[in-house]
This record gives sequence, C-alpha cells and structure tokens, in this order.
Amino acid sequence: MIKLNFDFSTAFSLVEMGDINDMMPKVEKAHKSLVEKTGEGNEFLGWLDSPIKVSKGVILDIQAEAEKIRNKADIYVVIGIGGSYLGSRAVIEALKHNFDSLCDDRKSPFIVYAGQTLSEDYMADLLEVLDKKDYCLTVISKSGTTLEPAIAFRILKSHLEKKYGKEDARERIIAITDKEKGALKNLAIEEGYKTYIVPNDVGGRYSLLTPVGLLPIAVAGFDIDAIVEGARLMRHHLITDNDFEHNPAWQYATYRNILYNKGKSIELMVNYLPNLQFFSEWWKQLYGESEGKNGKGLFPASVSNTTDLHSMGQYVQDGERLMFETIIHVENSNKKVKIPYDGNNYDGLNYLSTMSLTEINHKAEEGTSMAHIEGKVPQIRIGIDKLDEENLGKLVFFFEFSCGLSGYLLGVNPFDQPGVEAYKKNMFKLLEKN
Ligand code: PA5
Repeated sequence: MIKLNFDFSTAFSLVEMGDINDMMPKVEKAHKSLVEKTGEGNEFLGWLDSPIKVSKGVILDIQAEAEKIRNKADIYVVIGIGGSYLGSRAVIEALKHNFDSLCDDRKSPFIVYAGQTLSEDYMADLLEVLDKKDYCLTVISKSGTTLEPAIAFRILKSHLEKKYGKEDARERIIAITDKEKGALKNLAIEEGYKTYIVPNDVGGRYSLLTPVGLLPIAVAGFDIDAIVEGARLMRHHLITDNDFEHNPAWQYATYRNILYNKGKSIELMVNYLPNLQFFSEWWKQLYGESEGKNGKGLFPASVSNTTDLHSMGQYVQDGERLMFETIIHVENSNKKVKIPYDGNNYDGLNYLSTMSLTEINHKAEEGTSMAHIEGKVPQIRIGIDKLDEENLGKLVFFFEFSCGLSGYLLGVNPFDQPGVEAYKKNMFKLLEKN
C-alpha cells in the first residue's frame, strides 16, 4: 500500500487548472520517454529498475558483509562524495538515534564519512579517532578517479595497513566502483578487495538503491529489504498509474514546473525533524545536479524547522517572493516523551501538559503553513505516517522518478552533470596535474 499523502491545495492559489491542462501533453510525453527509456540521457536509466533488479542474492551478500563489519568494527568509514555518499547518509541519519555517538549500548558501528571534503583538520581529527578504535572502511567511487575520495582512501588505506598489517587491512576494505574500468577498480583487483558494482547505467545521485546506498545502510543496522520493498511498491505505482489524478510524480513535477514558470525560482524543502536534514541534502543534490543546467532550473534549498523558523523564517515569511515550499510531514514519532504537569506552573506551560511534543510540533507546522500562505508562499505537502525503512524507500523512488519527469518537462537532460567538470579542470591545472 502507498501510504504517502500529497496535498497541492495551497499551491493551487498560483497554479490554475488551465496551467495543468496545458502541461499535460508534455507530462504524458515525459512519462513515456522515461519508462520506455527513449529520452535524453537514456543510457543512465538503470535506476528505474533498481528496486526490481537488486536480487535476493545481492541483498543477502550485502547483509552478510555488513554483519562481518558490525562484528569487528567500532567505527565504519564511508568514503565517497556527492551521489556516492549522500543517499546512504540521508537514510542512516533519518533512522539513527539522534545521539548515537553518546550511546553506550550501541549495537552498530559508529558511521563516519570521509572523502566528501578536503579539510585537513577533518582528516587529522578522523585519524586521531581511528588510532584508538577498531574500524573498517568502504570506498565508493563510480569513476574511481574523483580526487576527494581518492585522496581520503590513499590516506586511510595507509593508516589501516599500518594499524592492522596488509593482510588484515585487506579484509577490512570494500570497494564499490565500476564493473570494469577506473583507478579504483584496478587497485581493488590488484589488492584483492571485496567489491560491489555501481551499474554502468546508474548515475551517482540515482544510486541509493544499489550497493552504494544499501551496504552502508545495512552496516548501520537498518532493514535494506524494507527499503527496497518500499521503492518497489512506489515504482509499480508511478510507472503504471499514468494519469494526473492518481500519479503523485506527475503532480509534483507538473506543479513545480508551473510554479517555476510563474517566477518561483527557489524550491525550499521543509522538514520539522532534525533526522531529515540529510534527506534534504540528498534531495538538493538530486534536483540541483539534474536540473541546474543550460541557464535553467529551480534552485533547491532546505530548512529544518522549527529551528530555522528562528533564522530563515523571517525571509521566507517576508523577504523577496521567490520561493515555494515542499514540506515533508511525518505524522507519528517513533518514541514518546511526556511534558510533565507542574503544580507551580511558573513557566505557564501547563496548558500543554496533556499534549505530546509531536502534537505541538504539528501545530507549529500548521501555524507556519497558514502564515506562509498569508505570505504568498505556495506549498506542496508530502505526508508519511512515520520515519521507517519502507517509507524512506518510497520517498527515495518518488523523488528520483519525479526528478526524471521534471527534468524532461524543463527541457534538460536530468542524467548528466557537465557543469561539475568546470571546477575540476581549473583545480587540476592549478595542482599541475600532468
Ligand atoms: O551524482 C553524481 O554523478 C555525482 O555526484 C557523483 O556521485 C560524484 O561526483 C562522485 O563521483 P564518483 O562516484 O565517480 O567518485
């Protein structure tokens, strides 16, 4: 069952039925191009089938490797950048204990990330910690040549080999890379590392439902079967229900393109749970890299409320009218905390003592939505019943599919990223790479 709720009613203040009707022929064409794999960038549409292609054998193998790592590591280092780490991090952060580094009874290794920054202090601090702890690492790079993860891997491989000796170190390294080519592939063959493949036809930012995302998520102790199942259910729904009324991806892609055409150039992803901060980071990369090209594209930004209502809230309410919001609403918390009744009531909060924090958070969300409607910020609301693996799997596939559709509606190739090369060219020249 697809338990996601979509509400476009407040965006409807700016989007008229005529706009939607005008867009429909394009949406139908985009849907057909996507599912029949005939559109631009169709050599990178393997992700469309990831939920049905990832075999039980691969899942079991990933779970077995994850178990080995969980048994011998206090810390698990995921090396990668962009699409090679944001997907797994989004899901892990969404599901993990908020203070896992401080929990004494942890059952999973503490997950840390490397190769997503060139900060020397970050790396030095990481090495300092790894000196004292048992750890394993996974290096993820489809091209196998990206500078940031390649440097991090060189440093950490050397550290690991000094700490454990070459033989034991080999057993602590997994490489996820191209099937045939790239420096990392060659190194993995040379050193005899366990490897998983990033399929040729899956780009980095669409790779969450391959070993790129699934291995780290399994090491963190989460149910990858349920994630894939959620994605599979969503895939079936989005591919087969091809009409506007029943297909939320059609609706989301249509609304955001109409809003963009009407001058809303920023889409703000809004959540009310700190666990979802990295989900927004994943979404920003997915949409930013897929659509921001040829001088076009919505600028994807994000806020985490109510925290950011006390910083960006002023701008959203009252600044330049540039944006619309996509709100992720989570109906239920996984844990409960009571607000105590206080006989003295000095803080005047007794009126809240019969409510849960989640109920109060929802009132804050509702009040903010009402204020933003007044402030002329259209909103799209996507609701899930709770944060769990299946719902995250559904959301991941929903946003991937909608991104492909939306890119086609915008008239760009949503599956390439030529702009990313510009900084690399300059950097390598400045580094005098030969
Ligand atoms: O989505 C993408 O394609 C990029 O963000 C890549 O994932 C990122 O640049 C890392 O590339 P690679 O996996 O080749 O190291």
